[in-house]
Formats: sequence, C-alpha cells, structure tokens
Amino acid sequence: MKQLRKFMLTFGAFAVAFIASTAAIGAPPFGDPASTEYSQKLWRSLVAANLAGPKAIMSKAYKGQHPHGAVLDTIEGKVTVGGHTGAVIVKRNYGGKDVTIAKVADNPAKYLGAVTVMYKREAGYDADNRDWFWAKYKPDGSLHTNPKGMKLAGRVAKGKPKGCIACHQAAPGGDMVYNHDRFAGR
Ligand code: HEC
Repeated sequence: MKQLRKFMLTFGAFAVAFIASTAAIGAPPFGDPASTEYSQKLWRSLVAANLAGPKAIMSKAYKGQHPHGAVLDTIEGKVTVGGHTGAVIVKRNYGGKDVTIAKVADNPAKYLGAVTVMYKREAGYDADNRDWFWAKYKPDGSLHTNPKGMKLAGRVAKGKPKGCIACHQAAPGGDMVYNHDRFAGR
C-alpha cells in the first residue's frame, strides 16, 4: 500500500512537471492550429482576389532557383484577412520532369507544385522579421509540411537555421524580399 502511494505521488509529480514544461514552451512559431487556420483565411482571400486558385491571374513564367521551383511566376497585390489589409507576394513554383518555361506558360496547372506566399501582417506579429506571415500551399490550398510533418504556415521557421525566414533574412535591402526593396524601411 505504502509503495503504491509512493508510486502515485512520483507519477503525479512527473505528470505535473510534464504539463508545466509543455505550457512553458507554448505554441510553436508555425504549423500550430492558429497559423493553419489563418493560412486558410488568407488562401480564401487570395482566391477571391484572383491571386490563387483556378482563376488566378498569370504573370510571365521565368527560370527559378533552388529551393523554389525550376520555373516560377510571381504576382503581388493587397488582400484583407480578418479586417487587416496587407501586401502579399505570391510565388508559384512549377516543376516536373519535362518542365520548361514554354510548357508552364501553355499549361500552368499541369506543372504547379507549390504556391509560396509572404503576407504582411499587422505590426507586432513578428517584429524581428518584418511581420511577414509565410505559407507554402499545395495547388488546392492545403499546406505543404516539413520532413517532421509540421504544416508550413506562420513564422516559418523562426529560430531555426533553415526555412523561409533563415534564407530570406539574406535578401538585400533588409526587407526579406529578394526581388525588390519596396518594403525596405517599412
Ligand atoms: C534557401 C533559400 C530560400 C528558402 C528556404 C526560401 N526561399 Fe523564398 N526565395 C528565395 C530566393 C532566392 C527568391 C528569389 C527567387 C526568384 O524570384 O527568382 C525567393 C523568393 C520568394 C518569394 C517572392 C518574393 C521575393 O523574396 O523575391 C516568396 C513569396 C517566397 N520566396 C516565399 C518563400 C516561402 C513561403 C518559403 C518557405 C516555405 C521560402 N520562400 C523559402 C530563397 C528561399
């Protein structure tokens, strides 16, 4: 009996310590339910603005570079999500064995592998990283995952040596955007 009580007490202490430690760590910076839910609202806004989905406006396809697709097309605009309006950069990543720029231009849907998005969220969302929300969607709007199975939406992957944020920190102008410096200082 005494032993059972001792066991129960030890077990209880472990359980409390475990719960306390997970609560202290809190939600991960990306892939959590709130980021996933937000990514779906953002996708619906992109579709409504013809920036994603079957009626998406196409821009000129060009040769891409790793880790984005072999062929890319990039389009920008502004969309509103939950009362906040922000700038958005949508990069479509095309791939496949026989992919070429001409084939993508003729049949984008056939080669589309991922839609990578940077969305300027409200000030304070991620002040260290210019308040960008990052997402990597499949053509149907569901999310790609990393090798650990974490959904790629949110502050991807804040604090880690690899991922959207780590690589885009090297973009010129300090705005985390490679193609231009329009957001520098903002
Ligand atoms: C290893 C480096 C690297 C990683 C990781 C990376 N990117 Fe990029 N990204 C680039 C480069 C380089 C460009 C410019 C390429 C071009 O347009 O030709 C770019 C361009 C973009 C653009 C167009 C705006 C710009 O910066 O020119 C978007 C949007 C984007 N990436 C989103 C993402 C998202 C979302 C992720 C994570 C899921 C991600 N990227 C991961 C290197 C990276």
